[in-house]
Amino acid sequence: MSKRVAILISGGGSNMVSLVDDMTDDHPARPVLVLSNRPDAGGLEKARARNIPTAVVDHRRFGSDRAAFEAALTDVLEQARPDILCLAGFMRVLTEGFVSRWEGKVLNIHPSLLPKYKGLHTHARAIEAGDPEAGCSVHEVTAELDGGRVLGQARVPVLPDDTAATLAARVLVKEHALYPAVLRRFASGDTCRKDLP
Ligand code: GRF
Repeated sequence: MSKRVAILISGGGSNMVSLVDDMTDDHPARPVLVLSNRPDAGGLEKARARNIPTAVVDHRRFGSDRAAFEAALTDVLEQARPDILCLAGFMRVLTEGFVSRWEGKVLNIHPSLLPKYKGLHTHARAIEAGDPEAGCSVHEVTAELDGGRVLGQARVPVLPDDTAATLAARVLVKEHALYPAVLRRFASGDTCRKDLP
């Protein structure tokens, strides 16, 4: 039986598309829901165009009540009965309460070579530090921000004239290869770390 995957987004959803487009044929999983915390997320239209059910839980309706927002997210997710949640450019920090409900089932892609540069502005920080390379990581989600076990990384060189934008674009190409590769393994029960060459 295929694993059921829900994908959480906040923006353009290019990582979501790379996951969805890989989940065909002998892939051990299928997408069952694309959920956004922003009604205007560009990825929602891309999901609809692929006949994937979509939902919106607008975090702004809940003000600073994070627990209420996460309870609403969980309600919507439970109806879709996912086996795996993929955070793909989902820009809300999730707390212990949410994470423990879905423990061991949540993946995220982060645009840095973790444990370096958790949080925001990862590309600018890599350039500022003079790092010779940058990249992305897929990791299990725990209550510690960007702190769960890494399941795969991909690397790119940092070039002398890179800006945060040019480096982000080069890393994003790797994200689109790395996340589907890790999800395929994870959905078939393989939780070993494997980096892209
Ligand atoms: C990606 O760089 C992801 O790593 C970061 O936000 C960006 C989302 O892009 N967390 P998209 O919405 O998948 O196009």
